[in-house]
Amino acid sequence: MILLSHRRMRSLRGSFVLALSAVLALGACGTDPTPIETPEVEAPTAPTAEQQSRAATLLEGPDWYRHAVFYEVYLRSFQDSNGDGIGDLPGLVSRLDDLKGFGVDAIWLMPIFKSPFKDSGYDVSDYDAVSPEYGTKEDLKKLFDEAHARKMRVFLDLVFNHTSSEHKWFQESRTNKTNPKADYYVWSDTASSPTNACGPFNSTFGTVPWSLDAARDQYYFHRFYPGQPDLNFDNPEVVAETLGVAKRWLELGADGFRCDVIGLLFETNVPKDCGALQPKTAEYVKKLRAEVDKFPNRAMVAESVLFDSPKAYYGNGKDAFQMAFLFDFGYLWPIAFQSESRDQIDRAFRATDTFPEGYQNALVIGSHDVGRAFQVSQGKEWRHRRAAEIQMLARGTPYIYYGEELGLRPGTEKVVDARDSARTPMPWIRAEGHGFSVAKPWIAFGADAASTSVEAEKDDKSSMYTHYRRMLALRRGRAVFGTGAMALVDVGNPSVFAFTRSDATEAYLVVENMSESDQTVSAEVEGSELTRVLGDGKGKREGAKVTIDVPATGSFVAKLR
Ligand code: NOJ
Repeated sequence: MILLSHRRMRSLRGSFVLALSAVLALGACGTDPTPIETPEVEAPTAPTAEQQSRAATLLEGPDWYRHAVFYEVYLRSFQDSNGDGIGDLPGLVSRLDDLKGFGVDAIWLMPIFKSPFKDSGYDVSDYDAVSPEYGTKEDLKKLFDEAHARKMRVFLDLVFNHTSSEHKWFQESRTNKTNPKADYYVWSDTASSPTNACGPFNSTFGTVPWSLDAARDQYYFHRFYPGQPDLNFDNPEVVAETLGVAKRWLELGADGFRCDVIGLLFETNVPKDCGALQPKTAEYVKKLRAEVDKFPNRAMVAESVLFDSPKAYYGNGKDAFQMAFLFDFGYLWPIAFQSESRDQIDRAFRATDTFPEGYQNALVIGSHDVGRAFQVSQGKEWRHRRAAEIQMLARGTPYIYYGEELGLRPGTEKVVDARDSARTPMPWIRAEGHGFSVAKPWIAFGADAASTSVEAEKDDKSSMYTHYRRMLALRRGRAVFGTGAMALVDVGNPSVFAFTRSDATEAYLVVENMSESDQTVSAEVEGSELTRVLGDGKGKREGAKVTIDVPATGSFVAKLR
């Protein structure tokens, strides 16, 4: 049994250092029989000055997005500045220092464009205007400038599959069959969906995807709500218009884009390989990438469609997206945890073996669509912590959904649709109003807002917020987590997910117990040390063999070399 009492561990620390030096002196021959016990190190909550300076260098280079930590913001719920109960751009600017201090490098802003908000901004009525509730174009420019002054970046959300039915293009298109915008949308005399190799197109929101427009006396196609008519990308003018939109936002200072349901752009009856991008979409993405590449160090992340493999979104590795969401991990991890089996998570990461060189996963564990990590963990907070460790340390760029770092609870008020439960205001302080707004917020806070506020959690060593700070402190300035290789490690136990990250400088082992029972596992790994840097497990190394005791619901992250 390798579990030792804390006192015994302390007394062993000196001998551990000696043993470690002996192993290092022996080199990599691995013949030293002296077992190395894991030293118990409490993970720091803040990076060192040296880590910060290494991070600054990494975040300036072309691989910046691999090293960055992204943070998804629903502006409406983040910080109100003008007392109307709705979050806005100046409010976000006032919180940049908080985000920077927490460890955020880049912000993904959910749509901030003019919109009737029938789908929380994913129904844009003017791609070139900021929603007046959120501020002005000058406010957005200020956000870009203030973020850049802090070496932070900002991605906008491009929603090109559809517009709002209030968009002036649709208003014109619907008037008759011959107007200049007549072919901007997908019109049909019948309400029958085109069928392709993957079956008929259906509405994602479960309704019939065609609605009759009385003025034009034709049906228009809408993959989402009826107020979101799909644009017709077979029309070259639509292609040119949307590329122009991207260009103008880049010129204003956007650092890149999250591209909404980009795999759905074309509705035509082209047989496609289910799970891959249609060739026409791939062509469009290349054009978009060429636009983005005209500006230095910009990047894009694709919202892959449902569980399509994101492989095709990377093109040849240089001509399409730099990042794509790996939803097989991001959305399916709760199922894996429920079954206490790592299989699904293994599958998600194994699938990336065939991705083109240079791909970079975008990793989420909660979102404005699927709910907060707290919700999908079914209230088992430990599952959220374990999934977040995988998200922060596996190969990929983590995208933290605002409030996830606090373990925010779901709300109950519905303004738009059921997804509102995960779109409630950010509680900054304990007191009433929680520092979000002096007015009644547009939607009620989620449960337990006071005890899950930043103020309540920041000095609590056991809070979710502190857990996030520890994970971010570990990742910061360590190139291995941004660009190092990832290898799944079979520890001979299906309830324990494990992997290594390694590059020429360092190597780490990450071991996550997905069950509510203590587990002891072993594996052969590289390196000559086993220094715990995060988690509550304990380990022993004998040559290449490591044996780890991971308590029920716990984890063990160690430096191997
Ligand atoms: C995906 C977005 O994440 C979701 O919130 C939205 O409803 C649909 N796309 C439609 O834009």
